[in-house]
Amino acid sequence: MTSSLISSRNAPTKATELHAKASLDFAAKLAETQALLQRATAEFAPVTQASSLGAEDVVITHMINSLHLDIPVFVLETGALHTETLALLERTQAHSLAPINVLRPVQVSVIQFVRDKGQDAIYKTMELRKECCGIRKMEPLARALKGQRAWITGLRQEQSTARAEVPLQDDSEVASKGLSKFNPLAQWTWGDVWHYIAENQVDYNPLHDQFFPSIGCAPCTRAISLGEEFRAGRWWWEDEAAKECGLHVKN
Ligand code: ADX
Ligand code: SF4
Repeated sequence: MTSSLISSRNAPTKATELHAKASLDFAAKLAETQALLQRATAEFAPVTQASSLGAEDVVITHMINSLHLDIPVFVLETGALHTETLALLERTQAHSLAPINVLRPVQVSVIQFVRDKGQDAIYKTMELRKECCGIRKMEPLARALKGQRAWITGLRQEQSTARAEVPLQDDSEVASKGLSKFNPLAQWTWGDVWHYIAENQVDYNPLHDQFFPSIGCAPCTRAISLGEEFRAGRWWWEDEAAKECGLHVKN
């Protein structure tokens, strides 16, 4: 057996090959998504995209760049991301026309948490896990959204039952926070996301080729097996209903 045969057998199957499959109405969805992003830019400035660098988010950033929209992107770099995600962040910073703003947690808070609660605190109780998300994600998120009128996320209805009603435009927090939230891919399927990535040769996180559909921090994300739900690899030791870090939980 030649070495090239061996290496091609060992190479992971590309997520694009596995998942790309456009819905019948994909062209209409794409046009609606692009129109929504254009309207958000025109009517809701300043508006920013929240990107975890997951598949949905790289699609949105690609559209922002190809439509030349004035939408800066922010990434919450929690200090616990996979090396693959950090490498994609570097590549994105190098190639994106839209600015990529990186927000990191307050170092002293991270150090105190680990020192006082222990390295494995997040696996002990949900309160401690949420405290970690508070320090590494929620506080930097508040900084990222300060002064913004709207933000754009990659939430999709298909991702979980908790997200089944995600709207394209969510104004439920305008009164309390002065913020609208746009979820331009709300109605996209996983197949649509990968169809767009394949068609446009969008750079993506190689963890998606290793059965990580949903990617968060490394200690809280694992690959999923055949038949498991989309978000089964996130906080897998906790109850299904609790699987949110707070970024999208309403008061
Ligand atoms: S989470 O709440 O469970 O972490 P998920 O990973 O599904 O969320 O991502 C949903 C959306 O939240 C992403 O499409 C993105 O808009 C935003 N998001 C999640 N993680 C980050 C991050 N680290 N930085 C910026 N935005 C993020
Ligand atoms: Fe901490 Fe895990 Fe939340 Fe990341 S996802 S902030 S590591 S608890």
